Amino acid sequence: ETTIHYRTINVTAADAAGTITICRPKALNAINTLAMEEIVHAAHALDKRPDVKAIVITGDGTKAFAAGADIMEMAGQTYDEAYHKRFMEGWTGLAAVRKPIIAAVNGYALGGGCEVAMMADIIIASENAMFGQPEVNLGVIPGMGGTQRLIRAIGKSKAMDVILCGVRLTAAEAHTAGLVSRVVSLNQLMPEARSMARNIASLSSIAIAKAKDCINRAYEIPLSEGLRYEQREFWSAFALEDQYEGMQAFLEKRQASFKDK
Ligand code: HXC
Repeated sequence: ETTIHYRTINVTAADAAGTITICRPKALNAINTLAMEEIVHAAHALDKRPDVKAIVITGDGTKAFAAGADIMEMAGQTYDEAYHKRFMEGWTGLAAVRKPIIAAVNGYALGGGCEVAMMADIIIASENAMFGQPEVNLGVIPGMGGTQRLIRAIGKSKAMDVILCGVRLTAAEAHTAGLVSRVVSLNQLMPEARSMARNIASLSSIAIAKAKDCINRAYEIPLSEGLRYEQREFWSAFALEDQYEGMQAFLEKRQASFKDK
């Protein structure tokens, strides 16, 4: 296991999972510009490491994943400053990560916290998790993807209720609504995330990356183009040694041993 120290996050890599822990306990892990830069940097560094097969993002402690963007940092900000420094635009960098990103939501995921969770490919939550987009209470709107990703995850009416009316979703409600894929107890959250990562690690990382890429394309392009995109990615999988090995292993009734090529 190796540990690298950033200022607002901790990063560890063990057992095929690279874990980014948002660590600003005095502010309930609120995300400032530095935290964004460090998370994106760490995700890219983990994406390059051959021993890491999936990236987990979680929050330090038992109360919050992240209670939003940092209100201290934003309170005195002018339009001029937000525009010129392209406030929070750096998140677009996460889209280039090939490996699956799992958000392990361990408490409050409000505002920017909920938005960071939605940037992940899969959200799993502990029973005490709480999702919300309270930005309108502060005279602003979600600014890290909330108005775009929440509607795709839970539909228009529920997304409006969360964003316009401040409705918060418990872990169970977020699960029913389709925002979250698995709910576990708080002490099972990281074991569950690591077991998900281990499972992914036993598969062909190229097939996994292709599947993630195709699913995320569905957000970007119309169905007919998405189907063409998937078809080509599927055909190209037959150029992989891992396709031959995977199907051979099935026929020989043994475990496949993928080589990521
Ligand atoms: C900065 C924050 C913070 C935040 C909490 N804190 N959330 N600091 N930014 N988003 C700080 C508090 O000021 C406090 O510091 C400490 O963390 C503990 O918080 P409390 O409020 O005392 O805890 P509690 O009473 O348990 O309430 C928890 C809470 C509440 C319900 C999560 O903290 C809360 O409502 N936070 C704000 C949630 C929010 O509005 N998020 C959206 C932000 S806007 P002190 O020093 O007093 O101990 C946003 C925009 C996204 O995210 C788009 C950006 C591009």
